[in-house]
Amino acid sequence: MSPITGSNVFLDMDPGIDDALAMVTALARFNVQGVTTVAGNVSVAQTFQNAHFVLERAGVQLPVMVGAEGPLFYPLLTAPHVHGASGLGEVVRSPGVRPFPPERAWTWLSNTIGRQRGPCHLIATGPLTNVALLLLAFPDVNQHLASITCMAGGMPGAQLDKDVEFNVFVDPHAADAVFRYGTNLRLVGINVTHRALVQLTELDRLRGFGQLGRLLYSMLSFYGEKSRGEGGDPNAFPVDDAVAVAAVDAPELFRWESLPLTVVLEGPLRGTVVVSPLSTKRPPVQVAADLNVPGFLDWLWESLRRIT
Ligand code: RIB
Ligand code: CA
Repeated sequence: MSPITGSNVFLDMDPGIDDALAMVTALARFNVQGVTTVAGNVSVAQTFQNAHFVLERAGVQLPVMVGAEGPLFYPLLTAPHVHGASGLGEVVRSPGVRPFPPERAWTWLSNTIGRQRGPCHLIATGPLTNVALLLLAFPDVNQHLASITCMAGGMPGAQLDKDVEFNVFVDPHAADAVFRYGTNLRLVGINVTHRALVQLTELDRLRGFGQLGRLLYSMLSFYGEKSRGEGGDPNAFPVDDAVAVAAVDAPELFRWESLPLTVVLEGPLRGTVVVSPLSTKRPPVQVAADLNVPGFLDWLWESLRRIT
């Protein structure tokens, strides 16, 4: 797979089936430098093994690092009912269990991003625990990142089809820290990702995209059945994380608004992303306010066509 842009990209993920799809689209579009994994959809032990598995099946060798085993303060909540017990649906992963690397995700990201030349982006598609730890421990990393793009939350005041979004609900403290200490932030929330719906009947196309396409077909068929109806169409499902990849490769598909953000940390509104008072002097976040959905779907299928 040859990337079409020079941008170096780091992925922080909790694969997870839509993370796996996002990973494949990023491999098709960028020079991916590595994947850091975080607990979210399943445990970090599972997300770590899953990241390795998807890369292997994509025929790509990249560093995969282990990050946080849970949120900063709250107990971990996972989503096996959506992603399956392993995190990759009913796919049988190779039995080999890889040992954890000694360096943890945030240290590896700081060291590796600091050595990059040229534009460098971090795309986060799980709970933001690793990104928060990175920014708190190594704030200078901001200087090396053209963007930190997060699939998280929802645009304040926008019409959302769910009360809260999983990544921010699982670790609202981490999301709040990222909105406080990050610069060059982009937020891709469910106000746009739950409009980027793939029809279940469309998945058959993947069977013609080689071995990796058939793996994606198996995983997305499982995921699509579990998440169909999110976004309002009973015959379609959102692909959430891949929209964050498109936001870096094709930002012109989005309309962006600049807002300082904070997060409701506890109580019945836990995980709600709200505008931060100006008095808090938070850096503005570029928030995706609208999406050219047909343009995104064309981008998605073109990305997947490249895996053949
Ligand atoms: O709310 C959607 C997000 O939560 C996606 O990143 C999905 O993988 C889950 O982590
Ligand atoms: Ca995810």
